[in-house]
Amino acid sequence: MAAEASISPGSRVPPVFVTGAAGHVGANLVRRLLDDGVRVRVLLRHEDNNQGLEGLDVERTFGDIRDLEATRRAIEGCRGVYHVAARISTIEGNRAHRREVFECNVLGTRNVLRAARETGAGRVVMTGSFSAVGYDLDNPSAPSNEAMQFYPMERTMPYERSKSLAEHECWRAAAAAGQDVVVATCCAVIGGADFLPSRLGRAMCDYSNRKLHAYVDGGFEFVAARDIVEGHLLCMRHGRSGEKYIFSSEYKTIPEIIGLWEEVSGVPRPRRRIPSSAMLVFSEVASFYLSRCHPDFPQRFTPGAIRLLRKRLHADTGKAQRELGFRPTSLRAAVREAYAFHYHQRGVITNPDAKRPSVNGAGQAEHVPADRDVPPDTGGAAS
Ligand SMILES: NC(=O)c1ccc[n+]([C@@H]2O[C@H](COP(=O)([O-])OP(=O)(O)OC[C@H]3O[C@@H](n4cnc5c(N)ncnc54)[C@H](OP(=O)(O)O)[C@@H]3O)[C@@H](O)[C@H]2O)c1
Repeated sequence: MAAEASISPGSRVPPVFVTGAAGHVGANLVRRLLDDGVRVRVLLRHEDNNQGLEGLDVERTFGDIRDLEATRRAIEGCRGVYHVAARISTIEGNRAHRREVFECNVLGTRNVLRAARETGAGRVVMTGSFSAVGYDLDNPSAPSNEAMQFYPMERTMPYERSKSLAEHECWRAAAAAGQDVVVATCCAVIGGADFLPSRLGRAMCDYSNRKLHAYVDGGFEFVAARDIVEGHLLCMRHGRSGEKYIFSSEYKTIPEIIGLWEEVSGVPRPRRRIPSSAMLVFSEVASFYLSRCHPDFPQRFTPGAIRLLRKRLHADTGKAQRELGFRPTSLRAAVREAYAFHYHQRGVITNPDAKRPSVNGAGQAEHVPADRDVPPDTGGAAS
């Protein structure tokens, strides 16, 4: 079992190493580690938006996980690795895009594992994705657990395939080299410290600024940022080597998520609710055109994301609860925290009719256990 080093005055305990530290999960994880008194070293890329770490007392190293030597140099002297970095994408993209996704997520993971092994850094906790967890093909909405195998023969996104292959890198390292590695599987993250920002964070801001004119049905598993951070720490401390654990706070339909945005912002939901079957056809056409003619144009409703929402995948977090003592907290509190962050810290919610939140959005929202959550007002629209 691995343990994080904590700071005691005058001691030079080795730092833990975090990749992807400026991203949504990483920025929340680093804040929690620092709050817990853990020394942290991060790997950043010079050209990236690293605002998520501004003002934090962390050791900064620079490099790309596709570069084995740079990764090895950065990890040297660390004890415990959180490998969070990944190229997130919900598009099929062109050849260059798919290559980038593969190289960052699969070869990058291979490099981080190898660098950790060769420098004696101890346990690696890699962030997995619920979109790369298997499900019952005949009944996709039946709860998925860790034992279910990702099925690559369906139409899947390059990102989903890459995260499945990244897990295989972990299991290969565990089997062939006896490496101590645990996968913390993450669902769609909601919470503060979303500096880049995430697709979900952007969608909530667009909603609050009345720039979201329609929404689709379907549903997914969502995880509060604080819960996925807790999951990573639990994996590092108590996870069984060579195992993966799914962390989710709650399943929500999209209309239910819209209901939470409506509640938190005071902005009424758009009247148009588009069936996902119709949206899928529209997004296929739009994505085909944009990928070829305007590859850099951000696509809001991608076919891959719509297909995922239509499956209404549910997560079984029983293994994490039983083995690690994981207790999900309130998604409503996470939405409030995210809203406050984008409103106060990023200042991007400018609609004068949107409510001014009282919490500051930097992880300061109240800690409400999930069982105290009140069912959201879905306005009768939940599917
Ligand atoms: N957010 C979600 O809803 C969600 C859901 C399921 C799983 N996950 C998993 O959770 C992890 C973190 O996600 P996130 O939401 O925090 O993503 P994020 O906000 O996009 O952050 C990812 C970070 O990794 C960095 N990175 C990407 N490729 C890199 C490379 N080759 N070398 C070094 N750094 C690199 C990114 O830099 P750039 O800014 O330059 O890209 C960014 O700082 C990922 O493993 C993801 O697969 C997330």
